[in-house]
Amino acid sequence: MQIRAVSTAPFTDQKPGTSGLRKRVQVFRRPHYLENFVQSIFDTIAAPLGAVLALGGDGRYYNREAIQVILKMAAANGFGRVLVGRGGILSTPAASCVIRKYQAYGGIILSASHNPGGPDGDFGIKYNTANGGPAPEKITEAIFSASKTIAQYRIADAPDVALDALGDSKLGDMTVSVIDPVGDYAGLMESLFDFAAIRALLSGGFRLKFDAMHAVTGPYAREIFVNRLGAPSDSVINAEPLPDFGGGHPDPNLTYAHELVEALYGNDAPDFGAASDGDGDRNMILGRHFFVTPSDSLAILAANAHRVPGYKQGLAGIARSMPTSAAADRVAAALDIPCYETPTGWKFFGNLMDAGKVTLCGEESFGTGSNHIREKDGLWAVLFWLNILAARRQSVAAMTRRCEASGAGMAASHPLTQTAGFAITSDLASVADSPSRMASSSIGNVSRDVEDIVREHWAHFGRNVYSRHDYESIPNEAANGVMKLLHGRFGELQGAHLGNYKVLFCDDFSYTDPVDGSVSTGQGVRIGFTDGSRIVFRLSGTGTEGATLRIYLESYEPDVAKHRLDAQQALAELIRISLEISELRERTGRERPTVIT
Ligand code: G1P
Ligand code: ZN
Repeated sequence: MQIRAVSTAPFTDQKPGTSGLRKRVQVFRRPHYLENFVQSIFDTIAAPLGAVLALGGDGRYYNREAIQVILKMAAANGFGRVLVGRGGILSTPAASCVIRKYQAYGGIILSASHNPGGPDGDFGIKYNTANGGPAPEKITEAIFSASKTIAQYRIADAPDVALDALGDSKLGDMTVSVIDPVGDYAGLMESLFDFAAIRALLSGGFRLKFDAMHAVTGPYAREIFVNRLGAPSDSVINAEPLPDFGGGHPDPNLTYAHELVEALYGNDAPDFGAASDGDGDRNMILGRHFFVTPSDSLAILAANAHRVPGYKQGLAGIARSMPTSAAADRVAAALDIPCYETPTGWKFFGNLMDAGKVTLCGEESFGTGSNHIREKDGLWAVLFWLNILAARRQSVAAMTRRCEASGAGMAASHPLTQTAGFAITSDLASVADSPSRMASSSIGNVSRDVEDIVREHWAHFGRNVYSRHDYESIPNEAANGVMKLLHGRFGELQGAHLGNYKVLFCDDFSYTDPVDGSVSTGQGVRIGFTDGSRIVFRLSGTGTEGATLRIYLESYEPDVAKHRLDAQQALAELIRISLEISELRERTGRERPTVIT
């Protein structure tokens, strides 16, 4: 096998964003574009000769071609073995799982996550380190630096590798191992969750609908929900991965996952709905006619973790990205564990997990995960919810049997009511508190659905009312102008009265990593009010066209009587203030957000 050194000239725009380098497919197809970036990764990481690399992507358009190029470059750069998912497929969480399980030196993941795919869509590439997580900023910065001075790349002259059958083959001295992309990941899920309890839930009339959005999770969801957990096969919709995601926008939110949303808000809705994104790391959770905000989801998983086998020994701590609501902070306080606030992007959670400081992490952008891997994990979040639902039903059913046998009054003394330092969210306490619920509860007819769990959580912890408004594809100058204006206003805003609110602080968020001391500045403008409400402004770091301005709005409502208010209504005044102080409408000409979540 011959290795060629190809002369090249740098591109100036290969700066990784929030999650790797994302560009239009046409940009990646320019001669040398992909190769330059891959060589910049290899030059930066300086893997020892014979190192193992994991490789795979979400199957989007250009995935297969890119995999062949990377394999030949890996061979030319001295890797000993590449573990590649069959068909070039690995979901982002599965890639993290594979890197960790096989102790790879690192991994390359090909994905632009939830961005649309196809010849005119987006492509992306990201490097993950040996812990299975996205490379930290110091590595992504070094890759960017390398890309600015690159003069040549190395590639093997060899035929394409067959990717559709499992097994090993040789590319020069390097072994290419085509592995099952699903098995290791599904096994990991089975080790964390009570599959028997979930199987019982699903066979007892509980109806699940999972929307894979024609993206990477289809085969994973089929294997886990249908083959291993016995759900009917029509529980998984849009399960066939397609290179252009069927022309859709594979982002699991109320706007883009509309087929699922219509089913869950329609007549005869299933009990539980969920969706994942292009590369399988995001999740949306729905109950019957009910949407769970990702910030609430993180808090609820934390509050119920003791019901799940993989987490019943307790949580070390929780981390959330800065714009994510403080709902998880309240649970952390109740559990007496630390809660960390990091900049946006999963790469900031890795150090905290590696150091054993946190177990669960989450972002408002439909990302939730734990230290089982070092990426957020869509199907993991769905299984966590199903496990909680199954466990709560089981314990309520057991409680009902006991109540019927011996009369009420025993629940408060049950050991579960003392679990993890707080009692109220325990089924037993709430059953005991609610005689009518107790009377109506019976095996197979227990009202323990998603909405119940969320409302009960709010009743105990209060509700962090939350919404994010995105203004997509606005001109860069307008977006930068808004951010500059806000920075210029810090002085006048300090202590100002805006409507019913008084500004407590305003700043641009910066973060000092408690593990390695690295500092990340300019992570979003925060305006905090004296009652704990917040407005945050941030520019997206994942888009490929123009700018996306995100406004994050949050208030805190302890009063149960007001928990039924629609979030947009409850946040109306903060929304008005955010538009006023940013002059957003005037500067962008936009009357309303592109997407509200
Ligand atoms: C967005 C989300 C962020 C997430 C990232 C990758 O980044 O806001 O939370 O980590 O996608 O999925 P942004 O476009 O805001 O930079
Ligand atoms: Zn994603």
